[in-house]
Amino acid sequence: MRNTMIAQEPSLARAQVSLGDPEISYPLWPPITTGCPKTSNDDVQYPLEIDYDYGALDLAIFEQAPLPGLDRWAPLLPPLLDGLSIGEGGTPLVASPRLADLSDFDGELYVKDESQNPTWSHKDRLNLCTVSAASRSGATGIVVASSGNHGASAAAYAARAGLPCIVLVSATSPRNIISFVRGYGAAAIAVPSAARWPLMRQLQERLGFQPVSNVTTSHTGHPFGPEGYKTVAYEVYAQLGRRVPAAVFVPTGYAEILYGVWKGFDEMRRLGVTGHVPRIVACEPASRGALALAIETSRPVASVPPNPTDAYAIGSTINGYRGVVAVQRSNGAALRVSDDDMRRAQADMGRTGIWNELSSAAGLAGFRNALADGETFDGPVVCVSTSSGFKDIATGTHTAPEVSGEWDEVVAALRDTYGIRV
Ligand SMILES: Cc1ncc(COP(=O)(O)O)c(C=O)c1O
Repeated sequence: MRNTMIAQEPSLARAQVSLGDPEISYPLWPPITTGCPKTSNDDVQYPLEIDYDYGALDLAIFEQAPLPGLDRWAPLLPPLLDGLSIGEGGTPLVASPRLADLSDFDGELYVKDESQNPTWSHKDRLNLCTVSAASRSGATGIVVASSGNHGASAAAYAARAGLPCIVLVSATSPRNIISFVRGYGAAAIAVPSAARWPLMRQLQERLGFQPVSNVTTSHTGHPFGPEGYKTVAYEVYAQLGRRVPAAVFVPTGYAEILYGVWKGFDEMRRLGVTGHVPRIVACEPASRGALALAIETSRPVASVPPNPTDAYAIGSTINGYRGVVAVQRSNGAALRVSDDDMRRAQADMGRTGIWNELSSAAGLAGFRNALADGETFDGPVVCVSTSSGFKDIATGTHTAPEVSGEWDEVVAALRDTYGIRV
């Protein structure tokens, strides 16, 4: 049976609530994509989240198998567009004892492999919710600023919803990503990063397109998006045999996934399904680390210079406030991981069967740094791997040594190129 045929229960979503002041709420419709109007100021804009009628929830929802298609979690998601799902979610939680050995860890280590979503990244969980919201609120199209996963995923869901999609990329965006976006029929336009947000606003005002990525100076994003990431927490809980992990390490850019994972676990705790939340640990490139700086300096939002990193998907120069909430409320942490840490983690994951892009390896890299700092974990540890290796900037640049097939040449090529001695 096709996933989209699964009977949907109605959403229990009832309002948009300010993260700047949870006492302040707004009607559920239309989605407010410019942050909380009452608590935001010129320096800091606060995101909104969705509140639900939790009292009306049948807790049997947490006994479901974590199969693909987020429709099964519909009561705890914003209203979804019927038939939009393309099998997002239900990704494997891969037991990784060899990675644990390679990390000198004698506990249970798992990788939540988000590359197994329809567009090969976690962003599909978000875009199911945002594109549903855009369509249900009468948007004429979708606009998204992204050089990677978010743009491609939004393009796919827009195509599925029958909405035109404009993806604002940068001139340095990887070519494979442009092909990916255009493959879904979206229009990719390269604009300087400073022009992206003003242009998004214009497309919103002039054409009625709805932004599914951020349009404010400090990150607020689409209020419905991170709700989709809560399902990572519901799935992990089920996949661990109804256990809560000790910690979840998450590659972090604007912390929308970080927040969603925390909120999912926190909902289960508040509903009495579980007793506690795991430590939620943000893993950012060491050359940037805006969230780490915000936490260290007790600020809602901090900016960092655009220092170089190859982890382009998580190279944010300003943190999302959601990250501060998730880290502080879970007694978590915001860690900086170097590009070399990520490269080593990426290579080890590849050698144990999971090929992910450099940014996606930040979770494992952060976990290893925490171990090296003497952290201990009283229970299973989950590293989220957010996307596939096909998205990397290095992908498509490797070559294979050419040999005639003569044995001596093969032996030399294996030795010289790969260090393999036969
Ligand atoms: C591969 C990858 N990992 C992690 C992230 C970070 O997600 P967030 O911005 O929700 O922190 C992104 C965001 O684009 C991404 O593409």
